[in-house]
Amino acid sequence: MNVLRLSDVDVRGKRVFIRADLNVPQGDNGAITDDTRIRASVPAIRDCLARGAAVMVTSHLGRPKEGEWNAADSLAPVAQRLSELLGVPVPLVKDWVDGGAWQGALKPGQLALLENCRFNKGEKKDDDALARKMAKLCDVYCNDAFGTAHRAEATTHGIAKFTPVACAGPLMAGELDALGKALAHPARPLVAIVGGAKVSTKLTVLKTLAAKVDVLIVGGGIANTFVLAAHGRIGKSLAEPDLVGEAQAILDAFPGKVPIPVDAVCAKEFSATAVPTLKAIENIEPDDLILDLGPSSVAVLATIIAKAGTIVWNGPIGVFEFGAFAGGTKALAEAVAASAAFSIAGGGDTIAAINKFGVADRISYISTAGGAFLEFLEGKTLPAVAMLESRASA
Ligand code: 3PG
Ligand code: MG
Repeated sequence: MNVLRLSDVDVRGKRVFIRADLNVPQGDNGAITDDTRIRASVPAIRDCLARGAAVMVTSHLGRPKEGEWNAADSLAPVAQRLSELLGVPVPLVKDWVDGGAWQGALKPGQLALLENCRFNKGEKKDDDALARKMAKLCDVYCNDAFGTAHRAEATTHGIAKFTPVACAGPLMAGELDALGKALAHPARPLVAIVGGAKVSTKLTVLKTLAAKVDVLIVGGGIANTFVLAAHGRIGKSLAEPDLVGEAQAILDAFPGKVPIPVDAVCAKEFSATAVPTLKAIENIEPDDLILDLGPSSVAVLATIIAKAGTIVWNGPIGVFEFGAFAGGTKALAEAVAASAAFSIAGGGDTIAAINKFGVADRISYISTAGGAFLEFLEGKTLPAVAMLESRASA
């Protein structure tokens, strides 16, 4: 990886724009349920403040509709947590793209958090006009958002074309170094666990991933799509019917590599108080929702995990936030922790699960990235990294 690093940039008296990944999991009332990504973003910010830069930080949170502010996706709770961690006030700036009074008020050694960058029209499409405006706000662009490095968006990619300096922050550089080393020659069998609710963006990486790994364990909405492909029943569970063909192609190309769940903990509604019912897949009814894998399915996975040489894990296998549906993810977390394999886990929800089940100290490496680290594992150059590399070689 040939990129300019923040530590090699003189930021004294400069305006530094840091793109962090502060996309943290939140409870119903917006309360942050795991602040790992915020804590991991602190070193870059502290470094710039200590060296006398005027620091602006932005991130996305969730997937809001562009062009409209909404309270649920505001970075307000993040500003508060960041302020506690840094011990300084962290003002949150709305409507910041065109600059304004807030910019004049931001002095060297001070910090402002710029509201959710996905509220801005053109962010997701990596719009050049938006990227140019944002580039005007700063002298130095620092990308420290490894968790979002697989997205080519205006704050992760486009902006770097137009700033005088574009560099990688310490989290970005550290993750690339650590994962690069860990995955260069992985001990076999290499087992990947891919779960969670973000179905389609992950299913598309699974084909390449399936070719690289020895076993591909699927959970969550992704598992449901595979159950459909294997002609099983999922009732009204989260799945991607359009991608059943993709899943089918993976099953055909790699027979036996993807264990298909045989049982599940179901409910009639998506709620913390829903009544859990254990069912074999063939007994699932049209109005059932799969909210966790069942013990027979998990036992198969635990055996595979116990024999692994390397484990990469992204995404919970059930709705572990609800106590009655946490059993599968808890058992999986414990199996990964107990395995002698080199284990890498990442992603906002995965880290939350690992912390909840108290196994963090028995995971070999915890990455702040979920989707990005799956794509890294796929062997792809991540667009945000490619952009920093192209700036470094220009
Ligand atoms: C993540 O949580 O994986 C990253 O923050 C990227 O979020 P996204 O999938 O909404 O782009
Ligand atoms: Mg949210």
